[in-house]
This record gives sequence, structure tokens and C-alpha cells, in this order.
Amino acid sequence: MYFCIMEKKIVIMGATSGLGLNLAKMFVAAGWKVGACGRNESALARLKAQEPSRIVTAAIDITAGDAPERLERLIAELGGMDIYFHGSGILRESDFEATIATNVGGFTRMINAAYDYFSLSRQPARIVAISSIAGTRGLAELACYSATKAYDATFLEAMRQRAHKERLPLRIVDIRPGWTRTPLLDGDKHYLFEMDEETVCCGIFRATLRSRRVAIIGLRWQLLCALQHFVPAWLWERIHLPLWRDGRN
Ligand SMILES: NC(=O)c1ccc[n+]([C@@H]2O[C@H](COP(=O)([O-])OP(=O)(O)OC[C@H]3O[C@@H](n4cnc5c(N)ncnc54)[C@H](OP(=O)(O)O)[C@@H]3O)[C@@H](O)[C@H]2O)c1
Repeated sequence: MYFCIMEKKIVIMGATSGLGLNLAKMFVAAGWKVGACGRNESALARLKAQEPSRIVTAAIDITAGDAPERLERLIAELGGMDIYFHGSGILRESDFEATIATNVGGFTRMINAAYDYFSLSRQPARIVAISSIAGTRGLAELACYSATKAYDATFLEAMRQRAHKERLPLRIVDIRPGWTRTPLLDGDKHYLFEMDEETVCCGIFRATLRSRRVAIIGLRWQLLCALQHFVPAWLWERIHLPLWRDGRN
């Protein structure tokens, strides 16, 4: 008898640094073929050199109009796509235009492109994206970032409804990590309930393959986010969450 075991393929947008980079390595180690993307070409080349036969790379800027075409070309080179994982995002409160262009404009552009691909293929597939615990409620110090992350979560929820309406065998997963020490965070600050990258990436890896629609990474963040939903608006406005403190120790 002849068995054909198809190689699974994942595209990771934002695989040049932090969570996306770690996740790319985990999927390669688990035997997947990985399409790694981001703007930093030397980081992509370094990643590819680790396992050239299992990694295909593409320089993609999600804020650029040609990003969906570049994604399409990468998928063809990879030989298909079972999971689209969106890990690209920035936290630059002083530059609200770049934050919105990346976390809202780029996010929408790429989730739509992945959705269009899966709606044509109609194969069982997944779109997985990282939003954030910061999107649970508006945060004074991170007004723009928290709003963009709330947008991402709502957009994913809407796409889930659309997939259901269109009877697509598509699972859409929203991953919300708590603060994790990656280059995204300010190196001079210590963040509330900060977690290490490896632990968080293990949680993200599991959540990417599981059936839960929303996965909050970090037990303390699961509790804190659940509590935040019960806080009335008049009280939330008086609460000042100590999101970070200066000094790493
Ligand atoms: N670290 C945390 O505490 C934390 C917590 C909750 C949620 N998150 C979210 O998790 C995601 C990953 O964050 P991280 O901590 O891993 O940060 P990171 O190390 O700074 O990585 C960010 C990734 O986004 C990519 N990116 C940024 N702008 C892009 C653009 N215009 N086009 C394509 N890719 C772009 C970067 O690639 P290039 O620079 O090569 O383009 C990089 O690979 C972000 O969405 C972040 O908001 C992080």
C-alpha cells in the first residue's frame, strides 16, 4: 500500500524577530515547511541558512500595496499554505501613523489576502494572528497601540463570522500574549507580569494548532483580562494600571 504524507506548510508574517522568528524555528523543528516573511532581508537570510530545504523566504512590507502579490508568489514557491500566521506588528506610541499603517492597514491587507487564498482553495485551513492583551480595554499610556489591537481582535471576529456564512472550512485564531521580552519592548523598562519569549512561544505554538478561537497567553493575564471585562466605564477611567516600571531589576 502506498501512503503519501503531505508536508504541512505555514506562512509566518513577521518571522524576522521576536515571537514570529521563534515560532518559525519551532515549526521547522516540528517538520513543517515554513514561508518566512518580513522586511529585514538579512534576518530572513540568517533564518533560511538554518534549514534551507524547509524554509522559503520573501521580503514583504505589509504596509505596501504589492504585499498580497508578494504573498501569493511566496505561497506558490512554498507549494501551498495550510496556515497563515500573522505576527507583524509595532508598538511605537510616538508614531501613530506608522502604528496604524502596520497594525491596522497592513493587518487588514494581509488577513484579507490570506482569506481570499483560502476561499479559493476551500481546503481545511487556518488564519492565526497575534493581537494582544493590550486590546482588552483602552490604555492611557498606549492609546494608539491598544486601539489598533482592539481593531485586530474585532476584525478577526468578523472574518470568523464571514467564513461561517460562506461555509469555509477555515479556523480563525486570535492569540493574545501578555507582555513578553522581545525587541518590541523598551529595554529599560520592566513590564507587568512580563514573560520570557520561549514560554510564550510554546503557548503560541500550541494555540496555533488547537481549536480555541481566542487564546490569552499567560495565566495571570487570563485572569486580569477576564476581570477587565467586568469593570464599568466610569471605574475604568479612574484605574491606572501600572503597565511598567523603569529599570529592569
Ligand atoms: N512582545 C510583547 O510583549 C507582545 C505582547 C502582545 C502582543 N504582541 C504582538 O506580537 C507581535 C510580534 O511582536 P514581537 O514581540 O515579536 O515584536 P518584534 O520582535 O519587534 O517583531 C515584530 C515583527 O513584525 C514585523 N514587522 C513590523 N513591521 C512590519 C511591516 N511593515 N511589514 C512586515 N513585517 C513587519 C517585523 O519584521 P521586519 O522589521 O523585518 O519587517 C518583526 O518580524 C506584534 O504584533 C506585537 O504587537 C507582542
